[in-house]
Amino acid sequence: MGLVSSLLVLYPSHYGIALFILGMLLIAFLISGIFTRPFVEILKRIDLMKAGTTGSVPDNVPEELEGIIRAFMEIHEDNLRQIESHRRFTSDVAHEIRSPLTALRGSIEVALRRQRSSEEYRDVLQRSLDEVKRLQGIAENLLLLSRADYKIIEMRKDWFDVNELVQEIIDRMRNLIGRKGILFSEEYQEPLEYFGDRVFIDQAITNVIDNAIKYTPEGGKIEVRTSTDGHSIILTITDTGPGIPEEEQEKIFQRFYRVDRARARTSGGAGLGLAITKWIIQSHGGKIAVESTPGEGTTFVIAFPV
Ligand SMILES: Nc1ncnc2c1ncn2[C@@H]1O[C@H](COP(=O)(O)OP(=O)(O)OP(=O)(O)O)[C@@H](O)[C@H]1O
Ligand SMILES: [Mg+2]
Repeated sequence: MGLVSSLLVLYPSHYGIALFILGMLLIAFLISGIFTRPFVEILKRIDLMKAGTTGSVPDNVPEELEGIIRAFMEIHEDNLRQIESHRRFTSDVAHEIRSPLTALRGSIEVALRRQRSSEEYRDVLQRSLDEVKRLQGIAENLLLLSRADYKIIEMRKDWFDVNELVQEIIDRMRNLIGRKGILFSEEYQEPLEYFGDRVFIDQAITNVIDNAIKYTPEGGKIEVRTSTDGHSIILTITDTGPGIPEEEQEKIFQRFYRVDRARARTSGGAGLGLAITKWIIQSHGGKIAVESTPGEGTTFVIAFPV
């Protein structure tokens, strides 16, 4: 007689209990397997996400769990985007400051190779000063954007006349406009009183007009107009420059973005102007939009709510 049969004879009730417990354990094991399988799958995906991939939702997970996974995936993807943009930003900063530094070092080394006339030294110093100014401009713009990110800039708002400000900006740029032989026209709708930070708005508008002058070839046309529709004060800056391809129009507001890196390099832009302009306008609850046709020109429209 086998052992099992002997036990069954000796302890029939105990055998039944043991079988029952074994059965329950088996069922518990199967059920826990069903419940834990999604978690095992999720853990596998978390391992992949740790390695830097985007996530995915495993099949057959309960609806509530799927919602939580999707929320985590969004946070993870957002973090990946931010890491990528920080990497790009650091590399852009390095590139941007390396070029003026290389130029600076080159001209100083060449100047020091032998004795020079005071004229030549003056020339080198002038070029060095230009590069230093460029570096200083980049550093100041970066500092401003970083303070904007940390939200530690306070707008000092007061009433001022927008038309007066625009005229002041254009007057400051008259020499540049004249040198490039640009036909400049202005049209003002008066009066346009606005409550905002005059210094920052000056900077925002200056950047856009500066671009129009910088990117419009000699003999081109620029038109600046102010108006109001009762809800907003609207500024329109139109030029007959090279235009901006449609797929680039959103990107020009990103830091360090330049449509034509080679062309912008010769005109000295770092690609920070419009990022600053957009931040200033948005800080006032306003909007900036661009319309452009390559080969014909560009129009920037700025609207400040009143
Ligand atoms: N009016 C315009 N016409 C054609 N392209 C423009 C115009 N305004 C801006 N852009 C394009 O958008 C890019 C970004 O402009 P942004 O003002 O931010 O930078 P930048 O002028 O190159 O440098 P920075 O303003 O920092 O000196 C420019 O490099 C240029 O390619
Ligand atoms: Mg610019």
